[in-house]
Amino acid sequence: MTTFASTAHHYAAFRPRYPEGFFTLLTDRFQLDGTQTVLDLGCGPGTITLPLAARAGHVHAVDIEPAMISEGRKAAAPQGIGYITWACGDAAGLTGMGLPPLDLCTMGKSFQWMNQDRLLADLDTLICPGGGIALVSTGPRASTVRPAWLEIIKNICTDVIGPGYRQQHGPAAHPAEERDDALARSAFSRIETTRWNQTFTRTLDELVGLQSSFSYSSPAVLGTRQAAFEERLRHELTAFNPNGTFTNTVPIEAVIATRP
Ligand SMILES: C[S@@+](CC[C@H](N)C(=O)[O-])C[C@H]1O[C@@H](n2cnc3c(N)ncnc32)[C@H](O)[C@@H]1O
Repeated sequence: MTTFASTAHHYAAFRPRYPEGFFTLLTDRFQLDGTQTVLDLGCGPGTITLPLAARAGHVHAVDIEPAMISEGRKAAAPQGIGYITWACGDAAGLTGMGLPPLDLCTMGKSFQWMNQDRLLADLDTLICPGGGIALVSTGPRASTVRPAWLEIIKNICTDVIGPGYRQQHGPAAHPAEERDDALARSAFSRIETTRWNQTFTRTLDELVGLQSSFSYSSPAVLGTRQAAFEERLRHELTAFNPNGTFTNTVPIEAVIATRP
């Protein structure tokens, strides 16, 4: 069982889609016309896979966590879009997966969980000339634009899970490095960054559900503390904002990395 096993259901239900602009960027930058082969690595429940399958020819959706692959298959079935091959696998074994030559590898919030130098070297053997890598994740934001209720959630997490809870239950890969360091020393050292702001308005139930999708406050991490944790979230967030809607503007950052 991996870190994301207990989050998979909540991830599929409560995590948002990436901005449409991200998929337009991929389509323009890699001239996606329905004939490309793409790897979505660390695909989770198909957050990138599903919208991308409608634009590329064949998406190989790979994740180490079987529960994520199962959520992805469930979400894809009624949509019937594109051609997707779902596979459970570890990025560390990428070259042994029998993948075809790739035009693009996408990674949504997954690159930081992997051995980046090894993965980039492996991708260099799989990605065709002219192809590349696209990373997308939440970007940095000024503390002045953080809604105050995020501080309430952070304090409850610190009290219940413990100080340093994000580091303890988050990605461990290269914690001292900047995000683009491994790319800069890889074959894919030409880096272009694009940013969007995405605004979400959530109900209290959605906010509590979202919390279970994070590795650091997953049902597995909370264990027997889950009910008390949720009760405290509901109580303190309602006291702070009795109208029950919570709006947050999140910076999203995409990095396109190609060979120089
Ligand atoms: C934060 S989730 C991102 C899911 C999805 N890509 C998205 O953008 O919403 C990170 C995913 O990476 C997967 N993952 C972590 N380490 C992995 C590895 N070594 N090989 C394959 N997948 C991995 C996790 O199981 C999880 O589903």
